[in-house]
Amino acid sequence: MEKKNVLSGIQPSGIITLGNYVGALRNWAKLQTDDRFCFYCVANLHAMTVRQDPEVFRQRTIEAAALLLACGIDPKRSALFIQSSVHEHAELSWVLNCSTYMGELNRMTQFKDKSAKHADNINAGLFTYPVLMAADILLYQASYVPVGHDQKQHVEIARDIAERFNKLYGETFVIPEPFIPKVGGRIMSLQDPTKKMSKSDPNPSSFIAITDEPNVILKKFKRAVTDSEARIAYNENQPGIANLLSIYSIFTGKTIEEALEIFDGMGYGQLKVATAEAVIEELTPIREEYNRILADRVYLEGVLNEGARQAAAVAEKTLHNVYAKTGLGSFFA
Ligand code: TRP
Repeated sequence: MEKKNVLSGIQPSGIITLGNYVGALRNWAKLQTDDRFCFYCVANLHAMTVRQDPEVFRQRTIEAAALLLACGIDPKRSALFIQSSVHEHAELSWVLNCSTYMGELNRMTQFKDKSAKHADNINAGLFTYPVLMAADILLYQASYVPVGHDQKQHVEIARDIAERFNKLYGETFVIPEPFIPKVGGRIMSLQDPTKKMSKSDPNPSSFIAITDEPNVILKKFKRAVTDSEARIAYNENQPGIANLLSIYSIFTGKTIEEALEIFDGMGYGQLKVATAEAVIEELTPIREEYNRILADRVYLEGVLNEGARQAAAVAEKTLHNVYAKTGLGSFFA
């Protein structure tokens, strides 16, 4: 059986929210089936586009890897590695930079958002960030890239770059497809349900971190902003209630219609508590496993070394081919 490759990455940026979990991580473990091979990386090179304190940065990178394992990435079936441990990412990224247009990068909405947010540090890395991401994907000949909605545009530019390169130099890269979850693509802020849940929100009550303790999760849900309609319904005019209902539905596997039936005639407080309980039930084993793995540095180091070795074996082959095709290598072949 010819296996299809999957690749995805997550930035080690400290807090991983319920939004990141539902939008991406939760699906990563599920993609580990017999007909696929998954490469999952901690995208620390990407995280460098904003300023990092080296010691904190190193620690967060390790924590992100531990969290991925806790979310069900199985190192016996998948390669879990740290992006900077496989030097081919940075090398392919340079080559692809030379096949990417400024105009294309200028259109990336994340670049526009991030440069507005970090106006004092609009570095070239922030601009070419999608090219590095294309390198991550294309090095592994990935057919599928599981990502949240916000990364769709980046996967599309990776496709464009791959197609352009293949046309110019001959078939080199598999053309990747984004793999975006249908349910619960967007989890909204608990304090302003018209905005996406974000770890950079100054009010920590607005987001759930996947490592939050159960009592903290309960408290945040109890404080969630709702409305004064006093009626549990799923519509645009009640974004807070709609958000709670969709979180409830995602974490219980029930449909919105079923949830509406269950909560018919009940108060907002009951919906909040039930939603918190469903989230706590799924996140508790993850948090416990995370703490256990994080304390076992020897195990973690072993997994990441082996993951990097497996990743490098594939990345090396692709880069070798790219160098041969472009005239950067194979001089006396
Ligand atoms: N840019 C992605 C994010 O912020 C993380 C990422 C880095 C990624 N490299 C990747 C995602 C490759 C998918 C594939 O969420």
